[in-house]
Amino acid sequence: MKGILLAGGSGTRLAPMTQVVSKQLLPLYDKPLVYYPLSTLMLAGIREILVIATPRDLPLFQALLGDGSGWGLRLDYVAQAKPEGLAQAFVLGRDFVGRDAVTLALGDNLFFGAGFGGQLRQVAARVATSGGATIFGYRVRDPERYGVAEVGPDGRVRSIEEKPARPKSSLAVTGLYCYDNRVLDIARDLKKSARGEYEITDVNAAYLALGALHLETLQRGMAWLDTGTVAALQDAARFVEAIESRQGMKIGCPEEVAYRMGFIDAAQLQRLAEPLATSEYGAYLRRVAAEAP
Ligand code: G1P
Repeated sequence: MKGILLAGGSGTRLAPMTQVVSKQLLPLYDKPLVYYPLSTLMLAGIREILVIATPRDLPLFQALLGDGSGWGLRLDYVAQAKPEGLAQAFVLGRDFVGRDAVTLALGDNLFFGAGFGGQLRQVAARVATSGGATIFGYRVRDPERYGVAEVGPDGRVRSIEEKPARPKSSLAVTGLYCYDNRVLDIARDLKKSARGEYEITDVNAAYLALGALHLETLQRGMAWLDTGTVAALQDAARFVEAIESRQGMKIGCPEEVAYRMGFIDAAQLQRLAEPLATSEYGAYLRRVAAEAP
């Protein structure tokens, strides 16, 4: 299973904060936003990840994340010259994905909850061995802002629509998508939508038509937060602060995930902590390195 981290887009809704730097590099409480979805992919057990960003921002992502080897990863990079929709990730990532299955994580989505890592690894294993597509649904108050899935009494997806004016359910489709290799051809053959984008919802609708779309519901108790507006970014930061200061454990810390997933050992985690020694983040890494993974 390969991973794609899509961190493109112009972030106009967060201007002027995004005037000179990509939204996914902005801080979400104590770390760059992109650390959260990167940690999500790592929790799924994925170690080969393609980062897609605008030509302007790509060098900054490279400076921040490097080749990933320090975190036990292999990171590749490709620029998205024109943001023409999420499904473009599979056109840009075609060579990188090769013959594998692939999980797409949007660079601004945050997931947190007990058992989520295990659920992800199960989904990734199922898609890699049995094929099809799996999306993750989460109940929200304002589904019209998202892709919306309608589920029948048998638990199967009945319809999927992008930002419908009249949503058929309150189940939003989150920014995490797991596909078999057919996604490469499905994305390549898409037509642009009325708003001029290659829609991820059309990719999912193609899998639905093939009878190969599976929806995993994220239960209450799980947190799924997006950061599309200033208010949402602040809400997410407050959420992370509340959990981290209460428990003394971090959310979305890739170094910690690498250690707990067995991608790196305690000595390597110690090395990663050294240049961060004066920050609270560095102290945290040192503390985690002293614990059993
Ligand atoms: C995109 C997708 C939408 C999905 C959302 C999740 O919307 O098009 O289907 O529900 O991400 O964050 P966007 O954030 O591009 O408006």
